[in-house]
Amino acid sequence: DDTKTGVKGLVDSGILNVPKIFIRPAEDLAADELNSSQKTIEVPVIDLSNIGDSIWRKEIVNEVKIASGEWGFFQVINHGIPLSVLDEMIEGLRLFNEQDLELKKEMYSRDSAKKVKFHSNFDLYTSKTADWRDTLQLTFLDSDPDPSQMPPVCRKSTMEYFKHMKRLGEALFELLSEALGLQPDHLNSIGCSKGCSTVTHYYPPCPQPELTLGVRKHADAGILTVLLQNHMGGLQVLHDSQWFDVHPTRGGLVINVGDLLQVLSNNKFKSVKHRAISSHVGPRISVACFFSGHASLLDKPFGPIKKLISEANPPRYEEFLLKEYFAKFFASSLDSKPPIDYYK
Ligand code: SIN
Ligand code: FE2
Repeated sequence: DDTKTGVKGLVDSGILNVPKIFIRPAEDLAADELNSSQKTIEVPVIDLSNIGDSIWRKEIVNEVKIASGEWGFFQVINHGIPLSVLDEMIEGLRLFNEQDLELKKEMYSRDSAKKVKFHSNFDLYTSKTADWRDTLQLTFLDSDPDPSQMPPVCRKSTMEYFKHMKRLGEALFELLSEALGLQPDHLNSIGCSKGCSTVTHYYPPCPQPELTLGVRKHADAGILTVLLQNHMGGLQVLHDSQWFDVHPTRGGLVINVGDLLQVLSNNKFKSVKHRAISSHVGPRISVACFFSGHASLLDKPFGPIKKLISEANPPRYEEFLLKEYFAKFFASSLDSKPPIDYYK
């Protein structure tokens, strides 16, 4: 029953030590190069202000191409989503997570058929250790979000946020198509911007943050992720075998290439490992929208885009079924071998 009140429930009960299940394996802790070196470069920040101007657009597409190929990560600013929409999204989630524990317990579920549910660690029973976070999952693949299923405290803000995500997703896939040298509508026309599911995280303050992580090292399994984070920071990206902080940029959104976009692009774009560290202070709040493709893609062969393949650039992946791919992903833990590895 304890698990139903999540990590925040533990913190509220006044614990001073991190319970054993959250402690990272010793070899993990030892191997961790916890940022002692000074970093002079940062994840690229791309200004989308003049996206409609053909000369500026070329420059923006070029920045997207470099960032997706070298970092697999970038931030966008001036993306057209009002600051108030982002702030209210975060605030709604804070209210949800900080409401009476009994009310949250009612939403607790591990049922994969359930679209809206609260839990801690989706892979709790398949992984060796747990991470220091609670999650409210809002899965609306293909269908439009159903407001009646949303928790009332964050219903309005979430519906508004989703509306904007849909539009931003389409705009990003246009830029990414152009960055691959394809027609602007290519990725949208194959259904990339459809099928967006959202996972929201609440990372309570942690009494021993050096022992546990907010989210373990992993790469995202979908096509593209759009991440909103509050001002706390903690997201880190692996680049040249070093961890780089993704500093929260007011009004910015973090974009990252998922494993499936790495496949579609035949390795032109990279899906990069990342994690979130925990902290004495909090809460950290984040919202990840995973674009995973239209449901009609699930039964069709999936692989590198044919137009990107040539004799000089042979396919780096065998074709596979997304249905099987996602089944593998959801049956394993976040830090296990990614399903993409099977098709290389
Ligand atoms: C994730 O990558 O799964 C979440 C990252 C974050 O909360 O910043
Ligand atoms: Fe992720």
